[in-house]
Amino acid sequence: MNIKKTLTLFFLLLTLSSTGCAYRHYLGMHDPSITSSPEIHVDVQDDAECLECHDPQTQAEAPPTNHPNFKGCLKCHNDTP
Ligand code: HEC
Ligand code: HEC
Repeated sequence: MNIKKTLTLFFLLLTLSSTGCAYRHYLGMHDPSITSSPEIHVDVQDDAECLECHDPQTQAEAPPTNHPNFKGCLKCHNDTP
């Protein structure tokens, strides 16, 4: 194998492994979790409640979500099942 082929292979693997990471993030392994601010999120159970603070349309003091139409917020945003 010559050096050019080796380098091409190296960069191909690098690209594949890094997009792999981003993809895993998207699949929900490292979502921002409400457990990092438990005092605000204690006893919140319903999507509708989440959106009272996180809907981009409201002016609440909370980071707006870019996916207000998702169902089951807690499936992705609660570290404890
Ligand atoms: C009473 C208003 C309120 C409700 C209800 C609420 N949140 Fe939050 N949320 C906040 C605020 C304020 C912050 C910012 C906390 C901070 O910066 O420490 C926050 C932060 C977050 C974050 C970001 C965490 C981080 O550290 O990046 C996520 C994700 C989140 N909330 C999801 C939810 C989900 C899911 C629900 C419903 C189960 C919910 N929130 C209900 C006010 C609320
Ligand atoms: C399929 C998994 C999934 C579901 C369901 C989901 N989220 Fe998220 N959420 C994510 C991911 C991944 C991120 C981080 C990447 C991004 O900002 O898009 C995120 C980011 C956020 C943030 C931004 C946190 C910050 O620090 O800025 C908020 C707020 C949030 N989500 C709220 C909600 C609310 C409210 C719901 C329910 C209506 C919800 N999410 C449903 C996966 C999900």
